[in-house]
Amino acid sequence: MAIPALVSSLGVPDWLITGCSELLTLRGPVPRRGRGLRELGIVRDGALLVRDDRIVAVGPRRKVERLGQARRAEKLDLGGRVVVPGFVDSHTHLVFPTSRAEEYEQRIFGKTYREIARAGGGISATVRAVRHSSEKALSECASARLREFAAHGTTTLEAKSGYGLNWKNELKILSILQQLHQDQPLDIVQTFLGAHVVPPEFRKRPETFVDLLVRAWIPAVAMAGLAAFCDVFCDRGAFSVPQARRILQTARACGLVPRIHAEQFAKTGAARLAVEVQAASADHLDKIGRDDVRALALSNVVCTLLPGCSFHLGASRCAPARELIAAGAIVALATDFNPGTSPTVSMPMILSLACTQLRMTPAEALAAATINPAYSLRQHGRVGSLEVGKYADLAAFDVADYREIPYYFGVNLCKLTMKRGVVITTRS
Ligand code: NIG
Ligand code: FE
Repeated sequence: MAIPALVSSLGVPDWLITGCSELLTLRGPVPRRGRGLRELGIVRDGALLVRDDRIVAVGPRRKVERLGQARRAEKLDLGGRVVVPGFVDSHTHLVFPTSRAEEYEQRIFGKTYREIARAGGGISATVRAVRHSSEKALSECASARLREFAAHGTTTLEAKSGYGLNWKNELKILSILQQLHQDQPLDIVQTFLGAHVVPPEFRKRPETFVDLLVRAWIPAVAMAGLAAFCDVFCDRGAFSVPQARRILQTARACGLVPRIHAEQFAKTGAARLAVEVQAASADHLDKIGRDDVRALALSNVVCTLLPGCSFHLGASRCAPARELIAAGAIVALATDFNPGTSPTVSMPMILSLACTQLRMTPAEALAAATINPAYSLRQHGRVGSLEVGKYADLAAFDVADYREIPYYFGVNLCKLTMKRGVVITTRS
């Protein structure tokens, strides 16, 4: 694949991108529900014209090539690859220092996630590690991971705090994210997850911790513009539905949009709470029932499914993706990248799991990894599809048919990633 080195005075050349055997534009209505999830807007032998960071033309190669601007642009021939909008990973816990491989092994020996957490491991173990890590060390770790996200085709991601759980360390994570957003190419959308678990120093007085969140931390995060969203881990062993309601109502009043970790481990009513507070997203949903499916389908809450967690935890029950799609819910997929339940940066792997474990079709999985998560992050005006006016964010895969993106698993077939008109990764 030849990549021209010539760069215009603006720093970014205009590109005429050809050699797209299948160009998945994902053009059309936002968000996608039901059968709409299968509409990928595929252009065979497609092309894109990019000016600065935006797409200015997209369609069949022969048409795009004829445009005046196309003749003056740098040529980027992708050599017959399948091109998709850059993945939008709408649920990650990006900033933490080390793995929890010892817990992984303990689980293989039969311990449960909850038993490990109760013995002081789990989220609390990562909280201790974050508190002992310098800003520089954490930032370097996160930065290296971002390069890996990009190498797997992700161009926008959401990232949560929640491993600091005191003011100093929550702030440390949020400022690392802000700095990374400026210093590296991927777009990072920030979420405040002060309500991840009750921190050790408040174990005996969880309500006092909720008071602290609603009276001090959430208003301060909102006021300082440190996050667009506020999340709560509302599940067995974390926060209750009444606590989560208080936290998310406060967040909404302060201008932060709610997101919820809902019903991963137990049926709690958290999905209904997501509908009640008009959350942007309800994530996990492994344990929801039929009524919840109906309620979610009638709402604008994006159902963000995280099959990496059930895979990594070896759980037998997954979210009812087929029921959600049939009922008309807005379904998205994300990695939930974190050291406890889903240590993967790979959206292609998540697509593979969505197909085999959640019984989503490759087309549904692709829409759920691009345009729907863009909607859940309120970024659908800029990313999530390859349409005129949007960022030139795309990934080229070395496959002959888009269904091969989930079909081949455990191998990275992403050959090139472009973010805002700049080639940020290539692989030979
Ligand atoms: O989304 N469930 C809460 N948060 C993460 C797990 C975090 C951890 O175990 O460190 C999740 O699965
Ligand atoms: Fe999570």
